Amino acid sequence: MTVFKRKLEVASVGHTKPFVWLAAIICTIFAIAVTITGIVVFIGYILIHPRAPIISVTNAHLDLLRNDHAGLLQTQLSIVVTAYNGNAKAHATFSKITFSLSFQGQGIAMLVADSFDVPKNSTNDLRYVVQSSSIPLTPDQIDKIDESWKRNEIGFDFKGAARTRWRIGPFRSVKYSCHLNCYLKFRPLNGSYIHSKCSSKSK
Ligand SMILES: *[C@@H]1O[C@H](CO)[C@@H](O)[C@H](O)[C@H]1NC(C)=O
Ligand SMILES: *[C@@H]1O[C@H](CO)[C@@H](O)[C@H](O)[C@H]1NC(C)=O
Repeated sequence: MTVFKRKLEVASVGHTKPFVWLAAIICTIFAIAVTITGIVVFIGYILIHPRAPIISVTNAHLDLLRNDHAGLLQTQLSIVVTAYNGNAKAHATFSKITFSLSFQGQGIAMLVADSFDVPKNSTNDLRYVVQSSSIPLTPDQIDKIDESWKRNEIGFDFKGAARTRWRIGPFRSVKYSCHLNCYLKFRPLNGSYIHSKCSSKSK
């Protein structure tokens, strides 16, 4: 009886052994992978985080502003959006870029761009010429335009977002989203842009 029992035990241990070993090896490999990933992400974070990619409006011009007695607005704006990668060690990729331009809540245009790379410590300019014809304005918005002509100052809301990520060799960071929320001011009489800070904050 005793001998038989022992035999049975040995047999059963022999059966489980490869499985336990396999599980242990997989767990160890997994733990090492997680640790290495953690270290890479941590080093990447230390290296990169202080200089997140930035999008900002660096120049603009009001090429045309015309409103008629019927309350229709015709306008053209040139806007330069600069994508800035201030990091000396990593490439940055910008994707899902969309901006919206509006006047007093009245949408004028949507601006988009294809994904692009910005090399280390470098910038890339997106030059937009936004043309819109015959935007119907409400009496309230017409008053605002008249006021703008008198003060020789007009403002447009310029909002947008982009996704950015880092690339160092084969490593890619998670995607950050950066948001832009600006009020672009111009002199309607000569179209010049009144420079003000318009840069994204990364989250
Ligand atoms: C980054 O670029 C600027 C000018 O574009 C240059 O003065 C600076 O030395 C560069 N920094 C590095 C770390 O390459
Ligand atoms: C446009 O007009 C503003 C104010 O009248 C003036 O300060 C600015 O220098 C002018 N810009 C150009 C390019 O003439």
